[in-house]
Amino acid sequence: MKLNQITICYYSPTHTSKKIAQSIADGLQIARRREIDLTTDTSTSPISIQDSICIVAVPVYGGLVAPVAAQRIRRIKAINSVVIPVVVYGNRDYEDALIQLRDMLQEQGFVPFCGAAFIGEHSYSRPEMPIAENRPDDEDLKMAEDFGKKALGVLLQHININEKENLNATDFSLSHQKTLEELLPPLNVKGNKPYKTLRTPTPQAPVVDESCYGCGDCIDWCPTKAISMVEGHSTTRIDLCTKCCACVKFCPIGARTFETPYTAMLHEKCKERRTPEIFF
Ligand SMILES: Cc1cc2nc3c(=O)[nH]c(=O)nc-3n(C[C@H](O)[C@H](O)[C@H](O)COP(=O)(O)O)c2cc1C
Ligand code: SF4
Ligand code: SF4
Repeated sequence: MKLNQITICYYSPTHTSKKIAQSIADGLQIARRREIDLTTDTSTSPISIQDSICIVAVPVYGGLVAPVAAQRIRRIKAINSVVIPVVVYGNRDYEDALIQLRDMLQEQGFVPFCGAAFIGEHSYSRPEMPIAENRPDDEDLKMAEDFGKKALGVLLQHININEKENLNATDFSLSHQKTLEELLPPLNVKGNKPYKTLRTPTPQAPVVDESCYGCGDCIDWCPTKAISMVEGHSTTRIDLCTKCCACVKFCPIGARTFETPYTAMLHEKCKERRTPEIFF
């Protein structure tokens, strides 16, 4: 059996989880690379991942894996593949999200061998009330790349020891006789079991002001198809909105705003810079 490619898989409405996953993959330095973006993929068909070193990155919502990400990950069927579970959170806390993601990926057939929690600009961050603004920054991305390098080192420690000198980025292949479960030690990460219970979210959605000129781009960014166009203006179905704030952050003229008391609270309480945590 062989591991011979990288698969990067993410759900990332405001692109922070995506950036972290890509930097970790850069650190692994393997040329054969497949990218699976689950953010706006509402299909229910199975996704097969085989003979792969996979990175799965998702945002933390309420201290757990973002529910839509959790739902989409259930489509994956992994065969002979190892995985790096990665959660990205807005400088408050990730609570039980990483342990939940590790378990979830194991259920989909992966063997988790290292994991991490990184920080991204909070979805609710606004220029006048920033929360982890512009993160991941250069320092975070460098840490993510270094983590990728270390992750490869961990794999080499346990697999393919005799062929190490033959490895190169373009023709990468790690061969193994025993199963990955037998070769790799179990991964311990921070978090509690049973996981915390997800609070029922209060239904709310961004509001659109008069400046919306109906370009329709936010329809494409919305992960849950909550936006549609009515008489040249974008409107939102509150029941479908996950408050991810992709439409708020990316609208070129700032026509969408999301008002919540959490923004001021998080801006006040989460000023101290948190640093990424890695687990082997
Ligand atoms: C509904 C919701 C709940 C969130 N809950 C948390 C949380 O519990 N802890 C935290 O630090 N950040 C929280 N965040 C912030 C996101 O985890 C953070 O902004 C992340 O970087 C977004 O990832 P993305 O850019 O890949 O979409 C929350 C964001 C949203 C929209
Ligand atoms: S809200 Fe912004 S992105 Fe959406 S249709 Fe209006 S102008 Fe375009
Ligand atoms: S409408 Fe809601 S779910 Fe859709 S992009 Fe905007 S905040 Fe996210």
